[in-house]
Amino acid sequence: MMHDLLKMADLNKEEILDILNLAMQLKYETKNGIAHKHLAGQTLGMIFQKASTRTRVSFETGMYQLGGQALFLSSRDLQIGRGEPVEDTARVLSRYLDGIMIRTFAQKEVEDLAEYASIPIINGLTDYCHPCQVLADLQTIREFKGGFDGLKMCYIGDGNNMANSLIVGGLTVGMKVSVACPEGYHPDAQVLDFAKPYGDTFKLTDNVLEAAKDADVLFTDVWASMGQEGEAEKRKIAFKGYQINDEVMDVAAKDAMVQHCLPAHREEEITAKVFEAHANEIFEEAENRLHAQKAVMVKLMQKK
Ligand code: CP
Ligand code: NVA
Repeated sequence: MMHDLLKMADLNKEEILDILNLAMQLKYETKNGIAHKHLAGQTLGMIFQKASTRTRVSFETGMYQLGGQALFLSSRDLQIGRGEPVEDTARVLSRYLDGIMIRTFAQKEVEDLAEYASIPIINGLTDYCHPCQVLADLQTIREFKGGFDGLKMCYIGDGNNMANSLIVGGLTVGMKVSVACPEGYHPDAQVLDFAKPYGDTFKLTDNVLEAAKDADVLFTDVWASMGQEGEAEKRKIAFKGYQINDEVMDVAAKDAMVQHCLPAHREEEITAKVFEAHANEIFEEAENRLHAQKAVMVKLMQKK
């Protein structure tokens, strides 16, 4: 097992399945009141440079359920927000904490933190990727569909952090992946390189209905991510039609699932009607953040 979780490509198929199996076990134990204090006495630091509901609450609760505690560290209050170098922050926090979850803008900041820290670093979202979310997504797909083999994943919208991690995660576990993005908003070049050897298993198009055709799982995400608020109006024009709606559901497989990492903007990337029709899958996905991240923390932080 690796030392950190910095991006989806850090994990091979076996490691992903291992995390998902442990996540399912922890979910069962949580629901049945069976204690699982694998991280007793440990402390997770959670550095946030962006807002969060799910990531913050699921990591904090998860750490508590594992017998440890979590510290919410807003970059507004940390010296890192006043320019203290990340390499110094990393070396200091490594002497107090047992692990760090960080949500920030630049992927490089997370990679630098991992380079200088001696404790596990978990990426809780960057502009580049969102691996914790995609582990929860894969867990939800497996719960609803029973596995991954032969399934087609479709992502509609911005080639953002979610698209990047879904492409890598979906292909790694053996799904077909089709992505519909407008010109100028494609996934990251590194991710497209990752997908190249997969040949026809991966498709990138600007045609929403082509991407959604026969899809078993449909994903979308906001048109303007955190940090892009100033582009919101321009993006509303660029992404018009990049929406999960009845027309898209009609061409997808009959029993297609819908997933959304949340927060959702109804009538932008998804209609309220489709959202509500698939709310059980979407909120199970949100719940699985808790279980999947607990599994990641146990894998990375449990003292042998
Ligand atoms: N999906 C997700 O990461 O949600 P938060 O931004 O609320 O953490
Ligand atoms: N793409 C979104 C995901 C939020 C969980 C963002 O980065 O804001």
